[in-house]
Amino acid sequence: MKQVADERVINRGHDESGLPSPLWRAAQVDPSPRPLLQDSCNNGLGGHVTPEIIRASRNDAERLTTLMLRSAAYQGRYASILAGYRVSPDYIDRHLVFAAVNAHRDVVGFYALLSDAPELDLLFVADNAQGAGVGRALVGHMLTQARAAGLSTVRVVAHPPAERFYRRLGARRGATVPAAPPRVTWERPEMWFDVDRDQ
Ligand SMILES: CC(C)(COP(=O)(O)OP(=O)(O)OC[C@H]1O[C@@H](n2cnc3c(N)ncnc32)[C@H](O)[C@@H]1OP(=O)(O)O)[C@@H](O)C(=O)NCCC(=O)NCCS
Repeated sequence: MKQVADERVINRGHDESGLPSPLWRAAQVDPSPRPLLQDSCNNGLGGHVTPEIIRASRNDAERLTTLMLRSAAYQGRYASILAGYRVSPDYIDRHLVFAAVNAHRDVVGFYALLSDAPELDLLFVADNAQGAGVGRALVGHMLTQARAAGLSTVRVVAHPPAERFYRRLGARRGATVPAAPPRVTWERPEMWFDVDRDQ
């Protein structure tokens, strides 16, 4: 991968072998609910930077949910897909969930990678932190996680406005996922990352 972002992020979810450690281990290493994330008022990024990316814990569920539900990209006609949806503590326990934090320790974004059927399930950058490279850093980190887990591809059912972002980061277009009313009344592009391919 051309990007060096993932080499510079701090990954507390890895053990010495470089493999992703189980979530219970992350909880043991860092048992106290740390003030990982707060509601972000100012992205504090000031241009393109590489944010710190750290493993989320179940204590972060509420903060991640808040960031997700505030996303302007999911208002209006797209709001129904997130109606009633929450990032639960159990979800964070079950999947690879990582958060990007700025210098003030405010959350500026997060992603969730499902490894059973390899899929980038959630990816959000706070509205006021977009356009500064956080999304690129999160995807780079996700691909490093996927590679360490032995995955060869990662699927994304993309939010339509995000398709060009994924293409920009090297994903290729797959099928069109049909609408699933009443919650999802629009088609979505399926995108694929080839994990070992340079971006
Ligand atoms: C999509 C999203 C994650 C992008 O995050 P971001 O931090 O703004 O993206 P970055 O700043 O890292 O951009 C990376 C590259 O993609 C490009 N890019 C970002 N959004 C783009 C868009 N909508 N269309 C075209 N290119 C885009 C940037 O120009 C940048 O290119 P460059 O590095 O060559 O200059 C963010 O906009 C977001 O959270 N959107 C709402 C939630 C969402 O749609 N998530 C995806 C769910 S599938």
